Amino acid sequence: MGTVTTSTVELNDGRRLPALGFGTYLLSPGRQTQDAVRTALDAGYRHIDTATVYGNERDVGAALRDSGLRRPEVWLTTKLWNADHARPLAALETSLEKLGVDSVDLWLMHWPVMRRLDSWKAMVRAREEGLAKSIGVSNFLTRHLDELAASSDVVPAVNQIELSPFLYGTRADTLRTCRDQGIVIEAYSPLTKGARLQHPVLEEIAAYHAVTPAQVLLRWSLQRDFVPLPRSSNPDRIRANADLDGFTLTNDELRRLDALDEGLTTGWDPAGAD
Ligand SMILES: NC(=O)c1ccc[n+]([C@@H]2O[C@H](COP(=O)([O-])OP(=O)(O)OC[C@H]3O[C@@H](n4cnc5c(N)ncnc54)[C@H](OP(=O)(O)O)[C@@H]3O)[C@@H](O)[C@H]2O)c1
Repeated sequence: MGTVTTSTVELNDGRRLPALGFGTYLLSPGRQTQDAVRTALDAGYRHIDTATVYGNERDVGAALRDSGLRRPEVWLTTKLWNADHARPLAALETSLEKLGVDSVDLWLMHWPVMRRLDSWKAMVRAREEGLAKSIGVSNFLTRHLDELAASSDVVPAVNQIELSPFLYGTRADTLRTCRDQGIVIEAYSPLTKGARLQHPVLEEIAAYHAVTPAQVLLRWSLQRDFVPLPRSSNPDRIRANADLDGFTLTNDELRRLDALDEGLTTGWDPAGAD
């Protein structure tokens, strides 16, 4: 593995996804999103994760243009929101207009809502038309993935799910399904939205390596072959969260972290989705 901001992972459609992404959920539209995304791009992140429902696509697009980077240098992900399943392609066009781009690198179905199989067909069409270069899903558990596999030949390139050591064992079945189907896992809320950063095991491992608990969580994610999407509005933390090359967790430390599973979800749990 090279440096974290230049490493990529191969998707099942042959494209390469930057191994670290920058999350933008709860970043307010306007200056907060623009400043955070610009800081992230300056710090070397080359993968920005937004969504229609975050309400900040315009600001993500503005920060990208402001950075001076060329469009192909930055991987842009957005998501189809639940309310838009009656008109998925129109929703994508709106996202493209707000982002100010001709296509996104990855378009994800945000949640496995009722019309998901029809919407997936529309997403496949968007990929054929080049509006979304890769397509995937989010918050899909094994039963949702198996249902999709039975109805479509196109396997999602990515499944974006909540994932940290505190949820790892609980998601074992979904992780196995993704591995079997060749789906890359993106880890959302990799920092538990801050909820477990003071856990004593994390603090002990962090102190040993002279890093922060957040850096330990992100390193765990990378070493478990997940693509973490940390979010911060704080410039120092944005930079620190991408500064992960100076240490490696041992197998023993990885196993200690794995054992922290407590089924922790910090948002809505897809176990409740039909
Ligand atoms: N597909 C989905 O359904 C879904 C759901 C949730 C999230 N996501 C994606 O995943 C991304 C990340 O998840 P998330 O935003 O829920 O939470 P997260 O990245 O786990 O945590 C963000 C929180 O951690 C704090 N933080 C960040 N770096 C820190 C550090 N080094 N030390 C201490 N605190 C730190 C941030 O505060 P400061 O801003 O003050 O630093 C913020 O409060 C989202 O932004 C979004 O792109 C997707």
